Amino acid sequence: MKKLLYGIDFGTTNSALSVFDEEQKEVITTIIIPSLIYFPAGLSSSSASEYVVGERAVEEYLKDGMQGRFIKSVKQILSRSTFSETRIHNRRYNASDLVAIIISELKKRADLLMGQVCQKAVIGRPVFFDDDDQQRDTLAQSRLSKAAELAGLREVRFQFEPIGAAFAYERALKKKERVLVADLGGGTTDFTFLTLDPDRKDRSDRQKDVLATGGIYIGGDSFDSSFMWERGTPYFGKNVQYQGTSGKVLTVPMSLFAHICTWDKMNFFNSLRVRKDIEDYYYFSGNNPKFRNLITLIDNNLGYSLFREIEKTKIALSQTDNARFQYANMGIEIGEDVSLEEYNGIIEKDVRRIDDYLERFLTENAIKKEAIDGLFLTGGSSLVPAVRALFKKKFPQVRLHSGDNFISVAKGLAYSGYLFEH
Ligand SMILES: Nc1ncnc2c1ncn2[C@@H]1O[C@H](COP(=O)(O)OP(=O)(O)OP(=O)(O)O)[C@@H](O)[C@H]1O
Ligand SMILES: [Mg+2]
Repeated sequence: MKKLLYGIDFGTTNSALSVFDEEQKEVITTIIIPSLIYFPAGLSSSSASEYVVGERAVEEYLKDGMQGRFIKSVKQILSRSTFSETRIHNRRYNASDLVAIIISELKKRADLLMGQVCQKAVIGRPVFFDDDDQQRDTLAQSRLSKAAELAGLREVRFQFEPIGAAFAYERALKKKERVLVADLGGGTTDFTFLTLDPDRKDRSDRQKDVLATGGIYIGGDSFDSSFMWERGTPYFGKNVQYQGTSGKVLTVPMSLFAHICTWDKMNFFNSLRVRKDIEDYYYFSGNNPKFRNLITLIDNNLGYSLFREIEKTKIALSQTDNARFQYANMGIEIGEDVSLEEYNGIIEKDVRRIDDYLERFLTENAIKKEAIDGLFLTGGSSLVPAVRALFKKKFPQVRLHSGDNFISVAKGLAYSGYLFEH
């Protein structure tokens, strides 16, 4: 039997687990899955497998014609005090139950691969789960802790995700450096400023190498929401006017469209409650087909398939200057050309918030730009050109490194075994 430790990065979009051999002091392998859960329709609670996880969740969901319950970005609900539980096939699932499904899947795959059961793990957490709210942060951390326990992990420590990313990057360094690490994920953007030194990598007193940590609740999901708001919602009735019962011309409340732009709302969208309102808008707007689109979107659970196209457009624009946002399904027809310049405009507000936060982070922690020897960008959203441009412009003198975008955090968490020694 090997002495193993799992580094677990439960991410908004992707989750990864690195298996660390504590005797050889090396990562043996890393497993990565999309953080998705699908509960097929029409299953009774006594059925053997009431849900599917990861890449199979998408496959089954699409194969079933998008019936059933599909849950994306479940990490976002960890800090929502308004969320207590959801009922699926007559079973109740609270936030920890849902998160445990993803952590269990990773653990199961790793245990199977290693031929032994490991109950020891370092689990990552963002620096802030939500905007700087201590109470919500504590709630999220305790829910995550409970999820780890439910998944069968008995010895658990938590580590900030960007510190994980930094320790992974450290293995590629030749000499001591003071590095600013930015981990730009699906839900959050996290920073850490620390001293990295390949000679200290296996030491147990790493805490004092970490000079500052911080983060903001903006990531790739925010870019997709902004895109949906600007280029998607007009197809679903945003800004459409209708005649109210008093004869006055009215515009549909914007709050309705906020529901179809973010995942924490979309996952648990109670269509019945607003369904009647939308029917009314449809009727009073003289059967405007955009409201028909909205009804189709909600009734048929099309959110995920639509956002997949939004994400594809974003990813294409990480490589080329022009892309097409296209979606045709059940009568909804969307076709938009998007240039990189236009896309940069759409996400400008989000990127500026990252920029403003970073400025504050540097000031509050008294970090002078000259004190930064290197910059390490990681996470899927670090591939967005406007994000890269922000760092290049802000730190023109600093060498920019990037890589291991989807696994650096898990690897570095696995290198954080020192946390068990205190
Ligand atoms: N080539 C690309 N260009 C732009 N964005 C990308 C690209 N590839 C992936 N992304 C985006 O990166 C995000 C996922 O990145 P990552 O896996 O690092 O996040 P995560 O760890 O799941 O989230 P978090 O750390 O915030 O919990 C998604 O928003 C995805 O759309
Ligand atoms: Mg991440």
